[in-house]
This record gives sequence, C-alpha cells and structure tokens, in this order.
Amino acid sequence: MASDSRSSPTLRLVDDEQGGCCFDDWVDHWSKRANTKRTIAGVTAPLLAALEEVGVRGRSVLDVGCGIGDLGIEAVTHGAGQAFGVELSIKAVREARRLAAARGVADRTSFEVGDGAKAPLPKADIVVLNRVFCCYPDVDGLLDNSLSAAGAVYAFTAPPSAGLAGALVRWQTRFANLWYRLRDKKFQGFRVFVHDVERIDARVRAAGFLPVRSERRRVVWHLAVYVRPEERN
Ligand SMILES: C[S@@+](CC[C@H](N)C(=O)[O-])C[C@H]1O[C@@H](n2cnc3c(N)ncnc32)[C@H](O)[C@@H]1O
Repeated sequence: MASDSRSSPTLRLVDDEQGGCCFDDWVDHWSKRANTKRTIAGVTAPLLAALEEVGVRGRSVLDVGCGIGDLGIEAVTHGAGQAFGVELSIKAVREARRLAAARGVADRTSFEVGDGAKAPLPKADIVVLNRVFCCYPDVDGLLDNSLSAAGAVYAFTAPPSAGLAGALVRWQTRFANLWYRLRDKKFQGFRVFVHDVERIDARVRAAGFLPVRSERRRVVWHLAVYVRPEERN
C-alpha cells in the first residue's frame, strides 16, 4: 500500500457477507450527495486541500472509516498514487467501489470492510480519519492502529472538545444520543462521542508527528494535519 518499502499486500479484512451496520442507512443519503458533489461532507474539501499542501502526489492514502470513499477517490484524482479505505459498513464499501469505478479510478483504489481499531491495516504515506473518532467509542484503539500504519502524514477531523464550540457540540451530542437511544432498534446502539481533542493531539505527537494544521472548520469540526519532522520545510 505505501509507496515505500513497507508496503503490505491488499488485505481481506473481514467477510464481505457479514451482517449490516448502523451506518448502512446513511449510505443512500451520502450516495445521493455524491451525484452532485465531489466530496459529501463540508469539511472534506478543506481537509483534502490541507493534504495537498503537504503533498499527495504519488503517495498512498489510507482512509480509515472511509464512508463511500469520496476522500480517497478525490485524492487519487488529484494525483495520489493509490488509496485504500477501510469501513465498518458493507453497504458503504460497495458504494465506494461503485463510485470509484464511476469516477474512473477503480484501478488505483481499494475498499474493504473492517474495524479500523482492530483490523491489520496496510502501511500508507498518508493516513486520514475524517469524521470517524466521533462515531466510535474506542479512540485509543483507533489511534494505536491507525498511527502504526502512518508513514509521512497523519490527519483527522473531529468535533472540538474544548471552549465554546466544545460546549455547543456536547450539548448537541446529548440530544442526538437521546434520539439514537429512543430509536435503538434502528440505530443498533450507535452513539456520538466527543473525544478529548487535546488528548488525541498529544497521542499523535507522541507517535513522532508535528502539527502543520490545527484549525476550526464549519464550527463543529476540528481539522488537524501532522507530518514527520523530516517532512517539515
Ligand atoms: C460520519 S461517517 C464519515 C465517513 C467519511 N469518513 C466521511 O467523512 O464522509 C463515520 C464513518 O466511520 C465509520 N467507522 C466508525 N468507526 C469505525 C471503525 N472503527 N472502523 C472502520 N470504520 C469506522 C462508520 O462506518 C462511518 O461510515
């Protein structure tokens, strides 16, 4: 996967035919958006622009919690060598493969079903978690597993956890989680999590990365990009 010597073969993470996931329902909505937009979430375009600034050309991208794969597909369209996405939702993975084919990059992208906190991940030059920490309880599992796959660049977006924006997001989250709890059968125990961004930041730095971006986007997203010291000019 990575364009350096640490490449690992394409992985078959879990059985494609296993049961559905609470995120499956969102896929139709994301697919509809992908008909008119290159990237489905407002924060994805600025994240991609930030990645292009540190360099995507010729590099491999690992998108953990890739949804329908629009970030990796766009990265490849903008010159990345290859993109790999791992995702809990089978339906999202199928849609990612369809979208990649429709956009003419199926040969340079690959999407598999798997848990980004547990499955063995291929090494990649750039590792991204876009709007994923907030959908998963085990932030340390996601960090440990994804950081160990990261070569030159690590990036994430997550809800802010401090200050006024953090308070706003926590308040919103309480209502959202009440709704998910009331409709537990449909959402299968899904909850939103506002993990401590400062702690995530400290973990990424401790893994040897330096921040090159740390900013608020669209009020409810913290966008952060890190590089290895040798990448910083
Ligand atoms: C809000 S969506 C974001 C999707 C995509 N990254 C985007 O920004 O459009 C969160 C996604 O993360 C996936 N996800 C959450 N935890 C995950 C995990 N541990 N491993 C793999 N995927 C995960 C979910 O299935 C869901 O599709």
